[in-house]
Amino acid sequence: MGLSNWLCVLMVTGIVGASKSCFPGCRCDVESYGLFDSFSLTKVDCSNVGAHVVPVSIPLDTSYLDLSSNKLEVVNESVLSGPGYTTLVNLNLSYNQIVRISATAFSKLRYLESLDLSHNHLEVLPPQSFFYSRLADLDLSDNHLVEVHMGAFTSKSQGKALEVDLSNNRLVSVLRGSDVPPPNIWSLMLSGNELKSVPDLQGIPLRYLNLDSNPISNIQEDNFSGLKGLIHLSLSDMQHLQEIAPRSFEDLPFLQILDLSNNYNLKSLSAEVFYGLNSLQELNLLHSGVASLPKDTLHNLPSMKIVTWGQNIHCLKTIKESQFHLKNGHVRKEVLLCHNKTGAVSAQDVL
Ligand SMILES: *[C@@H]1O[C@H](CO)[C@@H](O)[C@H](O)[C@H]1NC(C)=O
Ligand SMILES: *[C@@H]1O[C@H](CO)[C@@H](O)[C@H](O)[C@H]1NC(C)=O
Ligand SMILES: *[C@@H]1O[C@H](CO)[C@@H](O)[C@H](O)[C@H]1NC(C)=O
Ligand SMILES: *[C@@H]1O[C@H](CO)[C@@H](O)[C@H](O)[C@H]1NC(C)=O
Repeated sequence: MGLSNWLCVLMVTGIVGASKSCFPGCRCDVESYGLFDSFSLTKVDCSNVGAHVVPVSIPLDTSYLDLSSNKLEVVNESVLSGPGYTTLVNLNLSYNQIVRISATAFSKLRYLESLDLSHNHLEVLPPQSFFYSRLADLDLSDNHLVEVHMGAFTSKSQGKALEVDLSNNRLVSVLRGSDVPPPNIWSLMLSGNELKSVPDLQGIPLRYLNLDSNPISNIQEDNFSGLKGLIHLSLSDMQHLQEIAPRSFEDLPFLQILDLSNNYNLKSLSAEVFYGLNSLQELNLLHSGVASLPKDTLHNLPSMKIVTWGQNIHCLKTIKESQFHLKNGHVRKEVLLCHNKTGAVSAQDVL
């Protein structure tokens, strides 16, 4: 093993050191990294201590603070203040009873990358709550949010692409807000909410969007316009979904994965629904009400590789060469080979 490999091993395998003196009720673990343990990071676990734990003083080199399961109700600046907070990278506030966060609660946490606020009772998000952090990962799932302005996620630097989880709230509206620049979100989870139509997310550089389990009954032509960078779109488990209008996905030239599974009330799709999906590789129609697709559907889908269908029918695009004696020799033909658990199924039955 070369020297550089050894350096790599030393860098990635942190050595868990002894616990050091710590705030009462909490546990501090020091991990040393680098050659000759040249730097160390402290993980402070103050979970299950109780609401009296805050404000907790933490060692200066704390990178991860776990404040989960403490029955906290309010998070403001004074709860998260003191030496050590300025350089905090991960903060876990999940499983509390937080109803409110103040707009400035996280403003001193300039290096915060990951914030877990899931499983709380949050009803509103103040505007620009996360403006001064460089968050990459924000979990707001399982709260009581009814309305969200996407501007709440805009940051000052807009440096890091952000992953936001808003699943399992009570969202009836998601507003784009045009007063601030669109947030730099690449992955947005909106599953398990009360959205009745596709929200307007124009200008947000999304690559992944999940709208599963929302009471959306139809998808309209311009519903995904302005989301050109989208690669993976999930529209699954929608009991109410009955219609997808032709050209609904026209503005998604880079979409690779489209999940329409478990949509029992979606009974048919016209060939034009798939218009413009030049990069689509995977289409999931497992357990949907769609029994067949029009014959020329595949013509609109030049990159298609896998279609999953009906009751566990999987189709793979395969190139078949037949040796007709044409001047040019072989004839290459793309066909869809489908099979279920018991064996081959004719593609003609599904297309
Ligand atoms: C922060 O919240 C605590 C607990 O509700 C409260 O006692 C304190 O006054 C608040 N501080 C500020 C600056 O609002
Ligand atoms: C936060 O703590 C909860 C409860 O211990 C845990 O399930 C969750 O994975 C933690 N979140 C992160 C981002 O580490
Ligand atoms: C999507 O279509 C619905 C009509 O079903 C409309 O109310 C909604 O505003 C549209 N959303 C976007 C983002 O265009
Ligand atoms: C698989 O497909 C064949 C032919 O279409 C059909 O007879 C059989 O019942 C299917 N098996 C299952 C498990 O769905």
